[in-house]
Amino acid sequence: MMLEKAYNVTSEEKNMDAADIEKLEEMHRHYIESGGNAISILQDIQEEFGYLPVKMISWFSRKSGIPESRFFGILTFYTQFHLKPRGKNIVTACCGTVCHVKGAHRVLSRITKELKLKEGEETTKDKLFTLEKVNCIGACSFAPVVVINKQINAKMTPDKIARRLKKYRDEKSE
Ligand code: FES
Repeated sequence: MMLEKAYNVTSEEKNMDAADIEKLEEMHRHYIESGGNAISILQDIQEEFGYLPVKMISWFSRKSGIPESRFFGILTFYTQFHLKPRGKNIVTACCGTVCHVKGAHRVLSRITKELKLKEGEETTKDKLFTLEKVNCIGACSFAPVVVINKQINAKMTPDKIARRLKKYRDEKSE
């Protein structure tokens, strides 16, 4: 309940369909049989649903007896976990010092414009892209760098990144 309150989960959002509950029951059986832990539970939920719906973490907490605070501690510590749905393509823009000096802010601003993301939004409405910002990915000699689905795009300019994004967008309609 603590998590649902903290993340403003509405009563409508709390509703889960039978298929989702069945999947969680299966995960719970696996957790018991394999002697899993809180991290493996979160990994399983995220793998199945693409992210971690808070209502499912609360469900698992009630079912397993693992306190929500334990899950919450893990969620805030590990960056691999995501509480919001993510897009099909993950665009990671480096905003580290070297990239910044080489014009990363112009590239980032073009990405935001191309993806039509408003202030505070990370994922496009069509769920095709999620934009993340990081500080230095250790590829400074290629600055400014944008990683798309783990693939490094070196020495980006606003026009270059716009063309790359178009390629990913076009793949969807093929
Ligand atoms: S600052 Fe961008 S890769 Fe190092």
